[in-house]
Amino acid sequence: MFELIDVNSAVQELALLVDQCLNRRNINASITLAGDLPRVSADRDSLHQVFLNLVNNSCDAMPNGGELEIATRYLSQNQQVEIMFSDSGAGIALDVVEHLFEPMFTTKQSGSGWVS
Ligand SMILES: Nc1ncnc2c1ncn2[C@@H]1O[C@H](COP(=O)(O)OP(=O)(O)OP(=O)(O)O)[C@@H](O)[C@H]1O
Ligand SMILES: [Mg+2]
Repeated sequence: MFELIDVNSAVQELALLVDQCLNRRNINASITLAGDLPRVSADRDSLHQVFLNLVNNSCDAMPNGGELEIATRYLSQNQQVEIMFSDSGAGIALDVVEHLFEPMFTTKQSGSGWVS
C-alpha cells in the first residue's frame, strides 16, 4: 500500500531492527539523516525489505566486520530523496555491477538465484 513516508523514520526503524545483529558481526553503523526531507509516496513494507536486503549484502561483504554507512539527502533539482548504503567491504566487482538489477542474479551459493 502506497502512503506518504518519512524516509528518515524508516531508516531509524531499520537501524533499531539490525543493531544487535551488526554488533555481533563487529559492524559499526553510522547514520546521517538530512533535515530537509519531504515525505515520499512509497510502500513501507517494500522499503523495509529493500533496506534489509542491502544490509544483508553488506554483512555478507564484511565477514570480519567493518563500517556500514547509511545516509539520506534531498536532491532538490530532481525533487528526489536519496538513500545511500555504503560499506567497507571489497566492493561490487565490475562484472557483477552490470547484472545488479537482474532478478535472481547471485554470486553466492546461498543466494536466491542462479549462481553465475
Ligand atoms: N555490498 C556489497 N558488496 C559486495 N558485493 C555485493 C554487495 N551487494 C551485492 N553484491 C554482489 O551482488 C550480487 C547480487 O546481490 P543480490 O542481493 O541481488 O543477491 P545475493 O545477495 O547474491 O542473494 P540473496 O540477496 O538472495 O541472498 C551478490 O551476489 C554480490 O556478488
Ligand atoms: Mg542479497
